[in-house]
Amino acid sequence: TSRADASGLKVVITAGPTREPIDPVRYLSNHSSGKMGYALAEAAARLGAEVTLISGPVNLPTPVGVTRIDVTSALDMFEAANHQAENSDVFIGCAAVADYRVAKAAEHKIKKTSDRDDLTLTLVKNPDIIAEIAARARSTGYPLVVGFAAETRDVETYANDKLTRKGLDMIVANDVSQDGLGFGSDHNAALLLWRDTSGHPTQRRELPTQTKSEMAVAILDTILERLAERQDT
Ligand code: C5P
Repeated sequence: TSRADASGLKVVITAGPTREPIDPVRYLSNHSSGKMGYALAEAAARLGAEVTLISGPVNLPTPVGVTRIDVTSALDMFEAANHQAENSDVFIGCAAVADYRVAKAAEHKIKKTSDRDDLTLTLVKNPDIIAEIAARARSTGYPLVVGFAAETRDVETYANDKLTRKGLDMIVANDVSQDGLGFGSDHNAALLLWRDTSGHPTQRRELPTQTKSEMAVAILDTILERLAERQDT
């Protein structure tokens, strides 16, 4: 159990999948359950933080003491995240944001036609929510920005690359190729990577297989250590 205290901190967390509309009845999405983000929100609230959970569509109850903002598409999540990240201390991007959206969702249900067997959807890139927030956090140092990376191989290499490319302060990397872990599961195993305040060698902490609730506490402990380190410098 943790002795850490997060009272007085504003923590913003994104969780779950996004849904990108194709027409009024269809969408593109992914299998994110939202469990890790919800576990983080619950743990942060227990530690005394003021927690805002920006959630895509999931089947999970709102943790006690957490303010939940429901969103559907990546663009909705982007807007809510930008707004909430202002004046926050920690931003954790746990959501599985769709990388692309349908360029222009049809106004009416797309009908099956008898004269054509193919249908083409044009997709456009969604904004990288966490990268945008990290870019803005650069000048002030706040919020501390923590991202997630789900990889199927070379976890540390790809996660390190993501840490740098997105300008994050910390990344939680997990190997989603492992059976029974990650997507939809109640368990996870991860590697935390962060750069120290001097910007130099990447620090690491391995989190062995544990429940997502346990992992949430371990992740928050590490985040609080980093915040304390910042205040000392
Ligand atoms: O690039 P990738 O999707 O693997 O990065 C994962 C991390 O980036 C997660 O923290 C996720 O929440 C965040 N992300 C985001 N906006 C996107 C794509 C990913 O905030 N459009």
